[in-house]
Amino acid sequence: MSITFDKDSNIFQLNTKTTSYLIGIADGKYVGHIYYGKKLNNCQGGYALLRTEEKPFVPSQNEREKAAFADTFPYEYSTHGIGDYRESCLSVRTAQGYRACEPVFKSYRIFDGKPHLPGLPATFARDGDWAQTLEIICEDACIGLQAILRYSVFADADAIIRSVELINSGTEPLYLEKALSACIDLDDESFEMLTLTGSWARERHMTRCPVTFGKHAASSIRGCSSHQEHPFMALMTPGTTQDMGEVYAMHFVYSGNFLALCQKSQYDSVRMVMGIHPEDFEWKLESGESFQTPEVVCVYSDQGLGKMSRTLHDLYRGHLIRSPYLHKKRPVLINNWEATYFDFNTDKLVEIAKDAKEAGIEMLVMDDGWFGHRNLDNSSLGDWTVNEEKLPGGLPALVKQVKEEGLSFGIWFEPEMVSPDSDLYREHPDWAIQIPGRTPTQSRAQYVLDLSRPEVVDYVYESVANILRSADISYVKWDMNRQFTDLGSAKLPPERQGELAHRYILGVYELQERLVTEFPDLLLENCASGGGRFDPGMLYYSPQIWCSDDTDAVERLAIQEGTALLYPLSCMGAHVSDCPNHIVGRNTPFETRGHVALDGTFGYELDITKLTAEEKEKIKKQIELYHRYDHLVREGAYYRIASWQENHLYDCWEVAAKDQSEAVVTYVQVLAGAGMRSRKLRLRGLDEGALYRLEGTEKVYGGQMLMYGGVLAEAQEGDYVSRVMHFVRV
Ligand code: DGJ
Repeated sequence: MSITFDKDSNIFQLNTKTTSYLIGIADGKYVGHIYYGKKLNNCQGGYALLRTEEKPFVPSQNEREKAAFADTFPYEYSTHGIGDYRESCLSVRTAQGYRACEPVFKSYRIFDGKPHLPGLPATFARDGDWAQTLEIICEDACIGLQAILRYSVFADADAIIRSVELINSGTEPLYLEKALSACIDLDDESFEMLTLTGSWARERHMTRCPVTFGKHAASSIRGCSSHQEHPFMALMTPGTTQDMGEVYAMHFVYSGNFLALCQKSQYDSVRMVMGIHPEDFEWKLESGESFQTPEVVCVYSDQGLGKMSRTLHDLYRGHLIRSPYLHKKRPVLINNWEATYFDFNTDKLVEIAKDAKEAGIEMLVMDDGWFGHRNLDNSSLGDWTVNEEKLPGGLPALVKQVKEEGLSFGIWFEPEMVSPDSDLYREHPDWAIQIPGRTPTQSRAQYVLDLSRPEVVDYVYESVANILRSADISYVKWDMNRQFTDLGSAKLPPERQGELAHRYILGVYELQERLVTEFPDLLLENCASGGGRFDPGMLYYSPQIWCSDDTDAVERLAIQEGTALLYPLSCMGAHVSDCPNHIVGRNTPFETRGHVALDGTFGYELDITKLTAEEKEKIKKQIELYHRYDHLVREGAYYRIASWQENHLYDCWEVAAKDQSEAVVTYVQVLAGAGMRSRKLRLRGLDEGALYRLEGTEKVYGGQMLMYGGVLAEAQEGDYVSRVMHFVRV
């Protein structure tokens, strides 16, 4: 875990726990990628991998073929307009309208610690943590642009964190047309690309495809990281499994438009880049101003996807999530959305609270519909005043009654939006994002507020904070239910309209920063029509994010598998809901819904007052399981044992204690199939030499047997049945 510079070979070596990353300076100017992979003791001989001794040679030896050099050199940060025709990271327009840019090596700094990125979410070192940062300072003297390539490592994390700061060091304005955060050039290994794709209610399904010549991308220009594609990309050697194969992954710590792209070049090299999507982006940099790109987390695993997942989980728990709830048990909550939708009042909520308390539930969350005259989804966003027809006496009276029933209280907001039918819109139509003269596109009968404007940010903040100041509210669900269209800000000057999408996200970050600062004990859960803004950026503010509006236990298997590929289970908002499921109409056993929801933050999303006594008893049992396994789910190491998405029959995952003292295994038999048979589940992460007892039985297994032989999950009758097995070291 260190960063060094070898002057003789001109190589920077960044070491993490088990990986090394090598950067070389070719020809005294060009910052190139040499190596990312298993940890190396030294960088001896590495410089040759820059291929500067091969044709076309470096420009100082062969200026006449500079373009050929530029089109083959493995740039650490590729730029547009100088002969590298592969995907660029940086494109800059000068005041005169020219577009070529070539920042070359000037100097470097290595220092302890990791800088905070102003206004942006970022990984950080906690007090007492060791971290180190390398800054490679490059300059294009012709246009007056400095690019600081930044790389950080932590003592206990197997990841490299990259970002870039761009500074106008000249005298005239510059226009950033594209400013991505990271680039890596690898030699082709017949890579497969892994991305997470989906839709509303079908978020983050794992999708693999071969990397062939040309470009493959995952992206969003929707204003949020989106349900459809995810700010993540991995290149994997063919056939990579959970335990085997090499994986090079990038994950973007950002919540807005993004581009993740890989490209196989004419010479079989593969470039992967990631950053803010250049579409709908342009940033004017006045002389002396700087632009900070968001961070990209880079992970290399030589042991398949499982190691990548655990690396990311540890990094996010250790160095990204700040909430005081990170290591705390979250309250078991019941949310009234699927129970009542907009049709509720104080009596109904208190009735729910009463039954919930008896079942062991700890918090009531009041969802959409408590403000303005919102009885449907077509009004009142922006008017954050309590509807006293539904809630007489306002929030203080409601919260008091809920607390008297023994529950804490949480509330829903959608602060970033405005309904055309709202006092706010009638008073400030120009606060909505729209283009003068063009009828703005509605979505869910709402517009997006222009959070690039400080006065709008202030209004939104005060609206939310006033409600939170008015009563004892322990939790906020922060929702965001539409994507961008008609990008126009009434306040920004014409040459800065291209800044709106990024400034909007900076506004969201500022709002949430202010919120967690004024209300440090608040449990914040982000949400965007389900999991439409589930990304590392939001995790910096909230320790959990609502995973999907699809609460069907079977659909959730794929959604939660894809989500857990990157995120700790403690982040995944997961609730037990009613059947037939409101989204897909499927009936699944109550137990299975519970077992699947136990994979994330646990809660309920149903009208408990309508459940049978038997079902209420089942809730009590599920909550017992939650209390028993919560520490493991929250802190343990995650192992994917089987994937229903791959085998089309059953699903299985395990969470093992870091000290190998116990493990909890969840098995879901999705389809019984003809000729049902038991399944052999090979566990992971246990102590080979230890013995483990299966809880609730006298059965004892060797750690080796569980891992290499496996444990049998007996076949059960019927589809969608599940079981949880808890192994404890004896
Ligand atoms: C979308 C969320 O994902 C739901 O859980 C619910 O809060 C609705 N919005 C409310 O409008």
